[in-house]
Amino acid sequence: MAKPSFIIFHMPKLYIEPLKSINMPKASTPKTKKKSSKTEDVEKALEESITTSKVTKTVAKPVKATKPVSKPSSDVRVPTGIEGVDELVNGGLLPGSLTLVTGTTGTGKTIFSSQFLYNGATKYNEKGVYVSFEEPTDNIKEHAKKFGWDFADLEKKGMIKFVRYDPYHIEDVYELIESQIKQLGATRVVIDSISALGLYVRDSPELRRMIFNIALLLRKLKVTTILTSEILPDQKALSRFGVEEFVADGIIVLYYLRTDSQYSRSTTVWKMRGTEHSHKLHPYLIQSGKGIVVYPKEEAFIKM
Ligand SMILES: Nc1ncnc2c1ncn2[C@@H]1O[C@H](COP(=O)(O)OP(=O)(O)OP(=O)(O)O)[C@@H](O)[C@H]1O
Ligand SMILES: [Mg+2]
Repeated sequence: MAKPSFIIFHMPKLYIEPLKSINMPKASTPKTKKKSSKTEDVEKALEESITTSKVTKTVAKPVKATKPVSKPSSDVRVPTGIEGVDELVNGGLLPGSLTLVTGTTGTGKTIFSSQFLYNGATKYNEKGVYVSFEEPTDNIKEHAKKFGWDFADLEKKGMIKFVRYDPYHIEDVYELIESQIKQLGATRVVIDSISALGLYVRDSPELRRMIFNIALLLRKLKVTTILTSEILPDQKALSRFGVEEFVADGIIVLYYLRTDSQYSRSTTVWKMRGTEHSHKLHPYLIQSGKGIVVYPKEEAFIKM
């Protein structure tokens, strides 16, 4: 393969200071460990939302798993199939987990999400639902062709379903997501992006409740989910609303930052509950015919 064009420094230390100031749960915190007050807040809010929100009935119903989904264990994995990514997370995502893929605009969140579903359908025989709150689904499918992914064919075969959801009609969002997943029998789900909801739902508590409820619903359905969230260029938090990271089991951050005279792509696994994972910053590329390619044996050095 041709040598990648990014600048790779084999540096032992990373300089991404601004993010270090965030009070995040530790990456590999075991579930039995004492919960942080923030985690408790989230769980309390989740409980509240179960008892007070309209979605309660929908999510409280027993959900028949469309495919046997094992309890999260270190042996059972849902591989993303994205070159280099599974090596960073000990073989793949945990079944039924929710992973936030976050980054500034253009970092490849939509490509990552598409690749996760495409690989699921073509390599692992897993059906997937792509819920887009943002980009028209025809655009996503059209762009995917550049990477060699024929989603139209997979849709015809009933392996993938794209749904563009108009966030103006938020009251139906839970029913829509649930019915699409159940109808298809999907075990992989993408929600792209959760940030788009904020453009329509101005009331912060309501928005948080929605994010909690969506996460709760996806957990009940036992699907393995990629949730995307956009970070603003100067933002120090890991997500737009500062709550998405707490409902997620895992966080993969995509960076597009300046290294001298050019911008380089790099990624890190910020947290991944219940599993070992890389704590380094790795370079990645977006390549025609391939999509995202991460270099797990390389380290990236970024000057901020
Ligand atoms: N065929 C291609 N070959 C190489 N790079 C590409 C190709 N198509 C897109 N890209 C890169 O991917 C970027 C867009 O990726 P994507 O749409 O997944 O980003 P995103 O993080 O979802 O952005 P947004 O937050 O705006 O939705 C482009 O800016 C470009 O740099
Ligand atoms: Mg996108």
